[in-house]
Amino acid sequence: MPVKFADRMSTVHRSFIREILKVTEDPSIISFAGGLPNPELFPVADLEAAAVKVMEETGPQSMQYSTTEGFQPLRQYIADRYREKKGIEVDADEILITAGSQQCLDLLGKIFLNAGDNVIIERPGYLGAIQSFSIFQAGFKTVGLEDDGPDLDELEKVLDSSDAKMFYAVTNFQNPSGLTYSSEKRQGVADLMRGRDVVFVEDDPYGELRFMGDFHKPVVRGYLEDNGVLLGSFSKVAAPGFRLGWMVCSGEMRDKAIIAKQASDLHTSTFAQRVMHRYVSDYPIDSHVEKIRACYGKQRETMVRAIEEYFPAEVKVTRPEGGMFLWVTLPEGMSSMDLFDEAIKNRVAFVPGRPFYVDGSGENTFRLNFSNSDEAHIEEGIKRLGTGIKNFLAK
Ligand SMILES: Cc1ncc(COP(=O)(O)O)c(C=O)c1O
Repeated sequence: MPVKFADRMSTVHRSFIREILKVTEDPSIISFAGGLPNPELFPVADLEAAAVKVMEETGPQSMQYSTTEGFQPLRQYIADRYREKKGIEVDADEILITAGSQQCLDLLGKIFLNAGDNVIIERPGYLGAIQSFSIFQAGFKTVGLEDDGPDLDELEKVLDSSDAKMFYAVTNFQNPSGLTYSSEKRQGVADLMRGRDVVFVEDDPYGELRFMGDFHKPVVRGYLEDNGVLLGSFSKVAAPGFRLGWMVCSGEMRDKAIIAKQASDLHTSTFAQRVMHRYVSDYPIDSHVEKIRACYGKQRETMVRAIEEYFPAEVKVTRPEGGMFLWVTLPEGMSSMDLFDEAIKNRVAFVPGRPFYVDGSGENTFRLNFSNSDEAHIEEGIKRLGTGIKNFLAK
């Protein structure tokens, strides 16, 4: 018997990256395609010790249902860290703990988007957000990214003309481009958003992974007081398998997000929250983050240097100051999808850029991940890719 699926599922496809990752499972392929943190940097022993303490000291409570808002001491820790590290004021009661920051996107879709509503997203934009908002049958408008953030003239035009409900942005070391908004662009975005009935969603899972350059305050609370939601995550500073993220929002937005979360899953894992709280309280998270920064910084350095050596000069590459990705632009008219086939023959993989563009552009772009390969593999993989690009250009 055929079953009848909801209309909303008809336009949403399986994640393109997950499909690519299947191809790259072959161990002879050096893959820069995934977006994974380096597992050697997960603080396994400290998390294990924290988990044992939680079990020994608060076993039954940590196994019990708990509040939708999340474990209060963990929310307090996040609020304190915002004050200490980012210089912004956030109250613990304004934080909702979620199953990764990805769940925030689902909750925001639920509370803001009717079918056909417009979302403004960066060009290129985060694939997980495109997928999440597509489930709500959103339409997309885009704003181009320059080296220091969005094209503000274009953003103003889109805001004025599109009747958008939401602007979704990744302001630090963006996935996929690696680009970061400068202070001037943050101010500019805040000035454009202020006074509009459009919610600004600032997704910041990579902000702590800065290995060079100047720190910037988040747009939300740093530059923009109202109509903003700030998302965060433990995935890149501790471990993604815990599925712990959060949303900073207040007033009616917070109340509605709590209702949506309750309807979705009641609350985030009590045990995971308590273990993470124990971990951040008892173990040196700052020196752990420092270790991640040093390691990714070296990996990024190796990749940039190898690109300079092996890629033809007409290929453009971003120079991220943090995070996990850099972004490559081939000469106009070249297809990174076609290059992908050539690269796989050379046993190296990346993610072609077009799926990150909701407007169908970006054919000549692709994403490289540097966090999940050691320096020797980065050197060898970029060399192979450089050969592939040169062969491709010569065709
Ligand atoms: C921009 C962005 N937002 C959200 C997420 C989801 O992260 P989490 O593990 O916190 O759900 C990712 C994951 O890679 C991401 O790149």
